[in-house]
Amino acid sequence: MTSNTKILFEPAQLGTLALPNRIAMAPMTRSFSPTGAPSDDVVGYYQRRAAGGVGLILSEGVHTNQITAAGTPNVPHIVTDKAKAGWRKVADAVHAAGGKIGLQLWNEGPFRNPKNTKHPDTPSWSASGMKIPGKPLWEPMTEDEIETAINEYVNAAVATKELGFDCAEFHGAHGYLIDNFFWDQTNVRTDKWGGDWNGRTRFATEVIRRTREKVGADFPLIIRLSQWKQQDFSAQATKSPEEMLEWLQPMVDAGIDIFHCSQRRFWEPEFEGSDLNFAGWAKKLTGKPTISVGSVGLQGDFIGAFAGETSKTASLDKLVTRMEAGEFDLIAVGRALLQDPNWVTKVRDGRNDELEPFTKDALMSLS
Ligand SMILES: Cc1cc2nc3c(=O)[nH]c(=O)nc-3n(C[C@H](O)[C@H](O)[C@H](O)COP(=O)(O)O)c2cc1C
Repeated sequence: MTSNTKILFEPAQLGTLALPNRIAMAPMTRSFSPTGAPSDDVVGYYQRRAAGGVGLILSEGVHTNQITAAGTPNVPHIVTDKAKAGWRKVADAVHAAGGKIGLQLWNEGPFRNPKNTKHPDTPSWSASGMKIPGKPLWEPMTEDEIETAINEYVNAAVATKELGFDCAEFHGAHGYLIDNFFWDQTNVRTDKWGGDWNGRTRFATEVIRRTREKVGADFPLIIRLSQWKQQDFSAQATKSPEEMLEWLQPMVDAGIDIFHCSQRRFWEPEFEGSDLNFAGWAKKLTGKPTISVGSVGLQGDFIGAFAGETSKTASLDKLVTRMEAGEFDLIAVGRALLQDPNWVTKVRDGRNDELEPFTKDALMSLS
């Protein structure tokens, strides 16, 4: 590691969100909240990352309801007073350590397997009943269910603001509910919630528009997007910059502030003929600030982490080059920050020999 990483430590202003540096913690599900409310262990886990110099923490995915949003065990929600009280402690602890934090709001949609939940007879939610294209598992969502789901995101975002968080992020990536509406392979509806990009973005834009009405102009709203889907790593929801603009512009018009563009490897170009990555294109096309992500500081991507692979440390040169070119505003770091709460400080101080490889042990506890 030889990079001069100074650019990463310049302050950033993303709309109303003022940050001390350009490093965000990527949202990472930890499954350490069996009661649905974040415990004091969770409070300490986030506080350590704030004390370790992370510019903006994005929380693990937080369920917007306790039934149809929730497929993964031990994931926290933001529904009951107890859960909200736990989240308030998280926000306060992060602020006391000088950090900033937003919650990632999550409905798992078709990735919820009812059989593995306490409500096995309740079908999961999706645009057209599908997780895998062409293989319907349930009925498409009804108008009433769509209304309910949208209002749950809005309520969760309003609570996020009221609890003192600095921003809210809608999880619109990786094939979950919002993304299930975006993708033409899983949304084959012929009503106003399907069809062209205008129809397929309607679910997201209603979430954003109604939230914006409630939280006011100044509360930063982020949406996380991905071309890739968990059920298809090679999926490309948009095949050209022109099409990407059709996807993103309705969300800009609805009031989104920041696009968080999920890639497995941040250095991979999005379209042929240009070096720009996904976040680079989103910024260029919309003029909105963007967050990039994917294998920062590590060799091997995060899918391997779930298979128990160790990832050695990697140079930050490519990141510095892209950041210096202004391609995106923030870089989110996942596994490196799971492994080491002080990763940011070590990078800032050039203590490269102290940076650790990522090992699966980091997934086992909230250290
Ligand atoms: C343990 C783990 C849990 C994750 N959970 C989420 C999540 O809840 N929401 C989300 O959008 N991405 C999630 N991700 C993806 C990360 O946010 C990030 O995009 C990915 O790890 C790539 O960054 P990295 O290579 O720096 O780890 C998770 C990744 C890991 C390793």
